[in-house]
Amino acid sequence: MMKHYTLPNNDRIPVLGFGTWNIGGGMSPDYSQDERGVAAIRAALETGYRHIDTAEMYASGHTEALVARAIRESGIPRQQLFLTTKVWHTHLRYDDVLRAAEGSLRRLETDYIDLYLIHWPGSVPLAETFRALNRLHAQGVVRHLGVSNFDLNLLKRSQALCHSPIVTNQVPYSLHHREYARNGVLAYCRENGILLTAYTPVEKGRVAHDPLVQEIARKHNATPVQIALAWLVQQPGVIAIPMSQNPRHIEENFRAAAIELDEEDMERLEGAA
Ligand SMILES: NC(=O)c1ccc[n+]([C@@H]2O[C@H](COP(=O)([O-])OP(=O)(O)OC[C@H]3O[C@@H](n4cnc5c(N)ncnc54)[C@H](OP(=O)(O)O)[C@@H]3O)[C@@H](O)[C@H]2O)c1
Repeated sequence: MMKHYTLPNNDRIPVLGFGTWNIGGGMSPDYSQDERGVAAIRAALETGYRHIDTAEMYASGHTEALVARAIRESGIPRQQLFLTTKVWHTHLRYDDVLRAAEGSLRRLETDYIDLYLIHWPGSVPLAETFRALNRLHAQGVVRHLGVSNFDLNLLKRSQALCHSPIVTNQVPYSLHHREYARNGVLAYCRENGILLTAYTPVEKGRVAHDPLVQEIARKHNATPVQIALAWLVQQPGVIAIPMSQNPRHIEENFRAAAIELDEEDMERLEGAA
């Protein structure tokens, strides 16, 4: 079983999740990509991924539907999976949050969401959004709540408004993108038992061009992308959600969670930014 964190109610969140942005389309659906998208998600499930990251915004909901289809076809029982989805920033009014969650549940063909995130901060008062999110949590429709792209101030306000622990802040974080380490969010998350979910963790494959990463990869008989992922998930309180539609990359990324970097590797990579 993949390394994981145990959440307050004993649910487990694997340190690597499978990202789904661009599967089945970008901002809008591209139905010509359905078979390719479902094949990628099925490959991820067959490889062993049990944590999937999606959002109502991805392909205007179509990605969630493809996730559901891939799960259905895989035959893996729902309770073995950890599904994250997100409410878009135009749906942060009380009624809109409830409606958005209903839509995600319907498209995901499930009666609960493991982790529901505010995708981006919006213009609606956070207290109103959290009234709806707290209700979904109290009803058990959503098992955990979190946020995404939140700075320190918004994260602290979310903690104060959320009736359950904020489980994660999902932000860009990778070898060459350290904004959320510099702005204090990473340290605050660690001190407060909030996981930092690193998105765009392999920089769309570009981390592979870094000579230091290449050198450490050779030492571990691994690929540079694997080293980039291992560096992330070996840090306390950090998990990552790489996306790929290439079965070889999907397996390569999954195996990164088992790589053990030593202290010197970790320190050298820390300095790679
Ligand atoms: N909360 C937010 O606002 C937010 C924003 C962005 C992303 N996300 C989430 O985070 C996930 C990951 O981020 P991302 O998709 O932006 O970036 P990413 O995972 O860093 O990069 C994905 C790209 O990298 C390539 N890639 C993946 N593994 C590779 C490997 N082993 N070797 C070479 N190339 C590889 C993939 O191409 P191939 O298909 O050819 O492998 C794909 O084009 C998203 O899918 C989404 O779920 C969330």
